[in-house]
Amino acid sequence: MTRIAVIVSTTREGRFADGPAAWAVARLQDTAGVEVDLIDLRDFDIPHFDGAPPARSPRVYRSDAVARFGARIDAADAFIVLTAEYNHSYPSVLKNAMDATFVEWHRKPMSFIGWGGVGGARAIEQLRLVAVEFEMAPLRHAVHILPDVLRVAMMAEDKTDPAHYESLNPRFDALVADLLWWSDALAAARNSA
Ligand SMILES: Cc1cc2nc3c(=O)[nH]c(=O)nc-3n(C[C@H](O)[C@H](O)[C@H](O)COP(=O)(O)O)c2cc1C
Repeated sequence: MTRIAVIVSTTREGRFADGPAAWAVARLQDTAGVEVDLIDLRDFDIPHFDGAPPARSPRVYRSDAVARFGARIDAADAFIVLTAEYNHSYPSVLKNAMDATFVEWHRKPMSFIGWGGVGGARAIEQLRLVAVEFEMAPLRHAVHILPDVLRVAMMAEDKTDPAHYESLNPRFDALVADLLWWSDALAAARNSA
């Protein structure tokens, strides 16, 4: 069983993220051999990071929220990060949560679902760079929710209706297949190290 953590990185009221999150989780639940963990940053009241570098003091947690978050990252084999683009980057809530942890992410693959004027592409590119510092394998595959799909889903009464995202299913399935390949390869390598 591969445990894929789906990280919802926007927390503001009325966020769009709930739509793609519901679609991604439902599709993963239908995938054989996959266990899904939805990690919604709204559920973790992580304080503004101001501690010692977690890279030098692994798994020393300064709050219960960080400890709970760290345990969920530790338990995951692979990640799909859902990200909006805020001023051409990914949400600072996510960076703050990542900065509070370190080794929990090591040598695991990360894929992306983004949305916005350019499908969250700029935010995802920045996340890929950050993932390298976490000694992760950031993957090429991503789902970009561009304005043609985004506008319709945003205006809909129910943005969680999977029908809005149907045209993205092939891209999502390719992303998952690639993520599982990397997850298997890296889990085997981690276990033999
Ligand atoms: C602070 C802020 C900055 C934004 N900057 C961008 C941007 O740089 N590029 C973009 O495509 N959309 C931008 N948007 C629009 C977002 O794509 C849109 O609000 C989206 O719904 C955000 O995801 P969320 O609803 O899950 O928070 C921005 C929105 C906010 C709130």
